[in-house]
Amino acid sequence: MLYAVLFAGLLSIFYCWNQISLPLLSAWYVVVGPTASGLESFIAYERSVALHGVLKNFGVKDKGTEVDPGVIIASPSQQDPDYFYTWTRDSALTATMLIDAFLAGDTSLQPRIEDYISAQAILQTVASPSGDLTDGSGLGEPKFEVNSTTFTGPWGRPQRDGPALRATALIAYSLWLLSKGEKSRVISQFWPIISNDLNYVGEYWNQTGFDLWEEVEGSSFFTLAVQHRALVEGQAFAERIGTVCAACRTQAPQVLCFLQSFWNGGFIMSNINDQSGRNGKDASTILGSVHTYDSDAGCDDLTFQPCSSRALANHKAVTGAFRSLYAINSGRGQGAAVAVGRYTEDVYYGGNPWYLCTLAAAEQLYDAVHQIHLIGSLVIDALSLAFFQDLDPLVEAGRYSASSEVYSNMTAAMLKYADGYLSIVHDFTPTDGSLAEQYFRDDGSPLSAAALTWSYSSFLTATSRRSSVVPNSWGASKAGAPPAICSSTSAPGSYAPAPVDCSSNVSSVTVTFDVLKPTMFGETVFVTGSHAPLGNWDSSKGLELHANRYTNSNPLWSGTASAMEAGDSFEYKYYQTGTDGDTVVYEGGANRCFTVPEGCARNVVQVDTWQE
Ligand code: NOJ
Ligand code: NOJ
Repeated sequence: MLYAVLFAGLLSIFYCWNQISLPLLSAWYVVVGPTASGLESFIAYERSVALHGVLKNFGVKDKGTEVDPGVIIASPSQQDPDYFYTWTRDSALTATMLIDAFLAGDTSLQPRIEDYISAQAILQTVASPSGDLTDGSGLGEPKFEVNSTTFTGPWGRPQRDGPALRATALIAYSLWLLSKGEKSRVISQFWPIISNDLNYVGEYWNQTGFDLWEEVEGSSFFTLAVQHRALVEGQAFAERIGTVCAACRTQAPQVLCFLQSFWNGGFIMSNINDQSGRNGKDASTILGSVHTYDSDAGCDDLTFQPCSSRALANHKAVTGAFRSLYAINSGRGQGAAVAVGRYTEDVYYGGNPWYLCTLAAAEQLYDAVHQIHLIGSLVIDALSLAFFQDLDPLVEAGRYSASSEVYSNMTAAMLKYADGYLSIVHDFTPTDGSLAEQYFRDDGSPLSAAALTWSYSSFLTATSRRSSVVPNSWGASKAGAPPAICSSTSAPGSYAPAPVDCSSNVSSVTVTFDVLKPTMFGETVFVTGSHAPLGNWDSSKGLELHANRYTNSNPLWSGTASAMEAGDSFEYKYYQTGTDGDTVVYEGGANRCFTVPEGCARNVVQVDTWQE
């Protein structure tokens, strides 16, 4: 083990000299030293492995791989499971972690953050089976190919947490730029991206979608919680740069109102308006709480702050649900940490604990203790009493000041409990420090996607909170109370491609053809024209359009031609086939003209209406 650590340490000194900051490097010496043992040295060691692991999953210019610069892959695993894609959610959570680390002093991360943002400007424009940017619908697409093109396979889509998480990441970095006087850059380069995402949230928050685990269609607590946060900080941010986010102001209170319906009196239901038939206890609610933690918001129940009575009761309910589920949890009694998975009914890879879920359970507790210290007193009420009694069966409800014994015993017990979750991760992390997605419920051996970016990123956030490094406030306490009666509102959004920084002109462009054409069941719409990718006017070779976003009020047919040459000009027309599949009817009017744009755009959408 010692040799493996030493070897990994040397390797990483050679390969990542510029990526690992000095304080982390010194941690290597701690771990290889003769007295190295226990949790502290594991943390120091694993933090540098984790940061290295995240950066390895980042597309870098001139790295000679197919991964675009700034694109973050979920995992290098290309089969069983294939995670060689970029997910908007995983990437945004990881970027937020990197931005927080950058703000905490690791300036070497800045180029990666800038690359991430540039990549997002492109990804926002990619038309996908979820839709495209013209009406914002494309922003709900959960994942893309690593070269920033659309993934067209079947998937649980849309997923509406991605745009909110990305807005949060970009706002954190933009606030720093503002503090450095870079307002014009923020307004011209970053606000267009943020604004698209905020508009998306304002327009679609009240529609169902797939949850973060990509399985349940309905309303998800995690999604709504991060959406509320994005709208609240979005509004304040817009004001900071002298503009408005109308959708933020009008929708945020409604989102907060809706969020209350997830509280069932005992714990937070992970999904509602769903057909999943699950019991609702799910680590995604813990994730919702830690990713909306605001050190300025006390232990607020309405926003489910990590130290709120609701969130602590939920922590007990969710972690408790796994206690008797996994063999590796046997012997771990009440008040002792357990291996935590996604939800008890999970069958993916047999249903196992996940590193990121176990780490989130720790992170919530570190947040909570940090917060209790900031407040300077501990409140135990009827709702949170059972959580605290797991740590000390004799404790009673009350308000305890910082000088009281109960306060110091309880906060110490919570930290020990949190460390227990980290120790489980320690026990089931291989000696090279790599973190997969899951670890086997029977013996803790790693399972599913190897080197999962999100696992690494979770290790880094949980252990930063452990050292009291917490993110800046997002303004939860200024969010305002929800209205007395919730209503199902929506703010129509406007969307536009953000300017893309590109050093050389793009040669291959993806063109999406959208046409509005009411059809009958069994009819299909195509496009063809004087261009090989469109079949050279041969109606048996035209590009078939799809009706997956077709509605009576918006009869949209859409299809995408990839790899069109920038600068090419051609004529085209739409045509349809009849219910027999054979009869071809062209639209009327003159031929249409199109020139594939030259410049930075890698994805363009052409919107037409069928000519009668
Ligand atoms: C099913 C899993 O449960 C889900 O979370 C995952 O994203 C998809 N399969 C694809 O791997
Ligand atoms: C499956 C997880 O359920 C989902 O949350 C995640 O985004 C993808 N894997 C990629 O890591």
